[in-house]
Amino acid sequence: MTRAVVLISGRGSNMEALLRAGLPVEFAAVISNRAEAQGLAIARGLGVDTAVVDAREYADREAFDARLAEVIDGHRADLVCLAGFMRILSEGFVERYAGRMLNIHPSLLPLFTGLDTHARALAAGVKLHGCTVHFVTPELDAGPIVVQAAVPVLDDDTPESLGARVLAQEHRIYPMAVRWFAEGRLEATQDGRVRVKRAVAPAGALVSPAG
Ligand code: GAR
Repeated sequence: MTRAVVLISGRGSNMEALLRAGLPVEFAAVISNRAEAQGLAIARGLGVDTAVVDAREYADREAFDARLAEVIDGHRADLVCLAGFMRILSEGFVERYAGRMLNIHPSLLPLFTGLDTHARALAAGVKLHGCTVHFVTPELDAGPIVVQAAVPVLDDDTPESLGARVLAQEHRIYPMAVRWFAEGRLEATQDGRVRVKRAVAPAGALVSPAG
């Protein structure tokens, strides 16, 4: 079974959605860069190991990333899920987990990379907004897209109301993407996109003409 770790910095609602989704995944640990992240208690409550790697204890990004990699590899993780992990990762770290590190981002990428995505979507006047699960590459919020969900932007939306509508979709699509990964259904295409292969029907199962 796929072994995964989830990296968080705060609330941990996406982490909780992953842990509660009944995925064919063994969640080996939840790791935070902040000891005060609320998500840590939620993870422990669900019986998952937690660890903290506090950036303030390391001289520079490379030293922090080296320790983080040590903790991840200590849990023999096949998959690293960033779930509200608010740190820029070094290129070496990202390369180490190439093709096996996913992130959830609260916008329809490539629109609105970075922070404050809901306020920026409102300011831009877009009528659709949403969220994206993508593989992590060294360029921020730019890796191959696995799945997206869109929500309408309403006239009276605030960043909070819009963010809540998007978050509900995050909780839906992140477990979906992790399931596909665990089932071996994510395939990189020649041109750097992600194709989701069809589920293989169990032997003897009836396959409808629609597939
Ligand atoms: C989520 O909305 C996630 O998409 C976002 O942080 C929030 C974390 O909430 N991530 C980023 O902005 C990454 N660039 P959560 O801790 O409740 O999952």
